[in-house]
Amino acid sequence: MSNNVMVIEHPLIQHKISLLRDKMTGAKEFRELVSETAMLMCYEVTRDLPLKEVEIATPLAMAKTKIISGRKLAFIPILRAGQGMIEGVTALVPAAKIGHIGTFREPNTNESILYYCKLPEDISERDAIIVDPMLATGASLCVAIDELKKKNAKSIKFMCIIASPEGIENVTRKHPDVEIYCGVIDDYLDENKYIVPGLGDAGDRMFGTK
Ligand code: URA
Repeated sequence: MSNNVMVIEHPLIQHKISLLRDKMTGAKEFRELVSETAMLMCYEVTRDLPLKEVEIATPLAMAKTKIISGRKLAFIPILRAGQGMIEGVTALVPAAKIGHIGTFREPNTNESILYYCKLPEDISERDAIIVDPMLATGASLCVAIDELKKKNAKSIKFMCIIASPEGIENVTRKHPDVEIYCGVIDDYLDENKYIVPGLGDAGDRMFGTK
């Protein structure tokens, strides 16, 4: 597997993924679990943020201590399920800006087509983290990465909860520079491009649309 794929095996993340997979988990709990899992994953995805030393007056003395050194982030949810990860990641990085990317599958060609893209104006000064709970074929992720590259985002990472081997292969082949973080890599995609065993349609489960 590519060096750029990181599976975050933290027990809390693995436990929450099991609850997400359970078909008996309802929409409210599903939304909470997606948000919590995203927050835990964000902790790992931001591990390389650079620090600088500052001096702070504590009630007792001056302390040489560290703060994040001016790195600007943008989270980019892929609509619609990616939206469910935003509350969790912005709880950890409240100063981050949010962009949105929407794609649909053209029924005749099966191609992923961009229908919506609204990115922060200063995206060229920001490190972009694309979020989507599921990496299935990777087609919409590749469209999102293309857009961010066109707009010169400083760097691009991708964070998902469940990935398929096919999606990872597709994205790492086209974009070997993009780091992929996931909670688990599942077995395969079925004929409808659902991840197996997966958790079903993340958007439908999150928003109760089915
Ligand atoms: N999107 C989902 O929500 N679920 C899948 O299994 C694949 C894509």
